[in-house]
Amino acid sequence: MAIRNIVTEGEAVLGKKCREVTEFNERLAQLLDDMLDTLKHTETGVGLAAPQVGMCKRALVISYDEKDYEMVNPEITAKRGKVEGTEGCLSCPEQYGIVPRAEAVTVEYQDRFGARKRLKADGYLARIIQHEADHLDGILFKDRATRMLSPEEMANG
Ligand code: CO
Repeated sequence: MAIRNIVTEGEAVLGKKCREVTEFNERLAQLLDDMLDTLKHTETGVGLAAPQVGMCKRALVISYDEKDYEMVNPEITAKRGKVEGTEGCLSCPEQYGIVPRAEAVTVEYQDRFGARKRLKADGYLARIIQHEADHLDGILFKDRATRMLSPEEMANG
């Protein structure tokens, strides 16, 4: 396990459509372990996608509500409802915006061994999944934000 460097806005890898993972090997396991380590090391982050550590691969990790998730080749197969909420991103430090997202999603993905899984999520977890899945298509939350918060709004928490 190791802490990897988180790339920030402006790095080309953040704008790319990432490659599907086809090999479920030790390197993938290492990447996922490192990503979770890196995420937890930030203390404030709840999700991290592989391109954020410079790897253009369809993999993401989430650590939210005392649970860890790892998703390889995730695909959102159903969405329900629409809700606005505030988002930030480890790759866009000190920036927050209002982003409309589906209220609930179904996501199909593979685990680190290649086994197929399905998860239904709502609330904040659904938002995190949508935010991280977007990273795999080179989309940042700012691309979807209806507006960004002003410094005054951020100061008021
Ligand atoms: Co992000």
